[in-house]
Amino acid sequence: MTDNRVDLSWDEWDELNDPRSNTSEFDQVVEAALSRRGFLSGLVAFGSGAAVMGTGALLSSTTTAEAATTKRFAFKPIEIATDASVHVPEGYNWEILTRWGDPLFSDAPDFSHETGGDAVSDRIFGENTDGMELFEVGDKQLIAVNHEYVNPKVNLPNNEDGKATSSENVRKLQNLQGVSVMEVEETGEGWKVVVDSPYNRRIHHNTPMRIAGPAAGHDLLKTAADPEGIEVLGTMNNCGSGKTPWGTYLTCEENFNGYFGSTDANFEQTPGFKRYGIKGESRYQYELFDARYDLAKNPNEPNRFGYIVEIDPTDPNAKPVKRTALGRFKHENAEVVIAKDGRVVVFLGDDERGEYLYRFVSKGVYQPGGDTDNLLDEGTLYVAKFNEDGKGQWLPLTPETTGMDEVEIYIHTRMAASAAGGTTMDRPEWVAANPISVQAYCALTNNKNRGVKPNAGGDDTSVNAVNPRETNNYGQIVRWTPADENYASDAFDWDLYVMCGNPNVHNDEYAGSSNIHPGNMFNSPDGMAFDTAGLLWIQTDGNFKNEGDFEGQGNNQMLVGDPETGEIVRFMTVPYGAEVTGLCWSADRRSMFVGIQHPSASFPDGEGKLARSAVVVVKRDDNGIIG
Ligand code: FEO
Ligand code: CA
Ligand code: CA
Repeated sequence: MTDNRVDLSWDEWDELNDPRSNTSEFDQVVEAALSRRGFLSGLVAFGSGAAVMGTGALLSSTTTAEAATTKRFAFKPIEIATDASVHVPEGYNWEILTRWGDPLFSDAPDFSHETGGDAVSDRIFGENTDGMELFEVGDKQLIAVNHEYVNPKVNLPNNEDGKATSSENVRKLQNLQGVSVMEVEETGEGWKVVVDSPYNRRIHHNTPMRIAGPAAGHDLLKTAADPEGIEVLGTMNNCGSGKTPWGTYLTCEENFNGYFGSTDANFEQTPGFKRYGIKGESRYQYELFDARYDLAKNPNEPNRFGYIVEIDPTDPNAKPVKRTALGRFKHENAEVVIAKDGRVVVFLGDDERGEYLYRFVSKGVYQPGGDTDNLLDEGTLYVAKFNEDGKGQWLPLTPETTGMDEVEIYIHTRMAASAAGGTTMDRPEWVAANPISVQAYCALTNNKNRGVKPNAGGDDTSVNAVNPRETNNYGQIVRWTPADENYASDAFDWDLYVMCGNPNVHNDEYAGSSNIHPGNMFNSPDGMAFDTAGLLWIQTDGNFKNEGDFEGQGNNQMLVGDPETGEIVRFMTVPYGAEVTGLCWSADRRSMFVGIQHPSASFPDGEGKLARSAVVVVKRDDNGIIG
């Protein structure tokens, strides 16, 4: 049963296992992009320098996780792991906060290791934990956390391929996705979820939400159940997260496309469906038992997903709001910063091979304590263009730049970005902004199609300076500094913070950048967040087989990067099969909450039990600050 979990992971694991092409067209501009920030003098030279050192001929001091590090890292880096547990550095400890199936309310049934989450699955912590943020309400602490997807084979074990065969089946799976809001407290026996707290809440496929912003009321959002196009049931495929300065939670709808199917055998994809991967056949067969998911009956329903949803975690009765001004695509996370003049800036990645990185700039200005209800409803959406000289621009998406209707830009945003001429990217995952300098980072997780074939819109995806490797199975992190240290500026300078790679296996550009060595190597950066000291925490969602191109990289992991020196060290490893995703800190910064999604070993309940995604708490043994 345990390996089943890996098969069922949503994130296209197969792409990571495809054999790489034998040749690559390494673009020399990459070297320039890397050398601008001076990390080439590090442990292993990039490109030709690495070739000189050769496989197996690396300096011994770099072959362990304990490579030279600055004093900014308050721990001894750890080695890779290949087991079914969690590992943190000496002097740190971890414990489980909550797992898929644990109760949020005392009337929830016990978790079943035979059938997974129960049918009343909206009373428990949902499946496959992802992005999360912590909020303070008086002396209470709340965590809002995403549940990205469900494993139907586990939750419907008696159904062939886990496919739903009744509306009850559908409802059970629907309830396991979405968002949990839960109060947490630190007791003498560690951190606990406060069961039955009045703040506890589950938000899922059937939670009513308001549609706001430019696309609200547009014909493409109208359905039989909602002829005005202003209210939708539910949110799904909640991936990364965001937090506004005014204390709301942003949940990001990512791979919503796989939930819609058609009962019409002659279903034909529209260009919009094609660009977003909406096909006649769904992954879960909801359309057979819930007409909302049937494209033959409700062709506009998918147009109501793929947005950023704003949730007030402090009011369990507050209606969530879909903020269409932030565009419709496969949203990863939403990193909110404030521009010099007080406007709200949100950075947004579209996690699909060859899609784009976006920025929203509000029209209104944020004033602490002021009205924030409509701040995310009016503004301009931009797509990033990275030039080969280390400069870049945010290109506005307007009728003039896209040739599109001014509202449809917010519904078919991918087409708008293509028309405006953005740079196709290697799957933009999380964006994180440095709190002590005006600089933002985006994890480009991997892209097996880079230099191989165009994106779903037919856009060219040849190698370029910011996505420089053909068949990019390792990923990289790009960062940019806006002109005038102002996030509202349209111009920016960029460089590559790291090119992931494997210097044990490769002696060319696939070895990675100078700040990658055998002691810290990893693939597929995904979740990212800065701590208050300005260190970048990097979570991976990659190949964990520890063989072939990935030999020596072990299970997925969380690392810490120093933006100044480029150094990256390993802090945590998670169980075999799992990705590590979601990171936030307690109010006193002495506890760190980390999400562990889709473990394939019997984590955390032991042999013979279902593996369960979980949130763990990491602390220092001396209860010191860890972020
Ligand atoms: Fe849900 Fe792109 O990760
Ligand atoms: Ca992710
Ligand atoms: Ca990922």
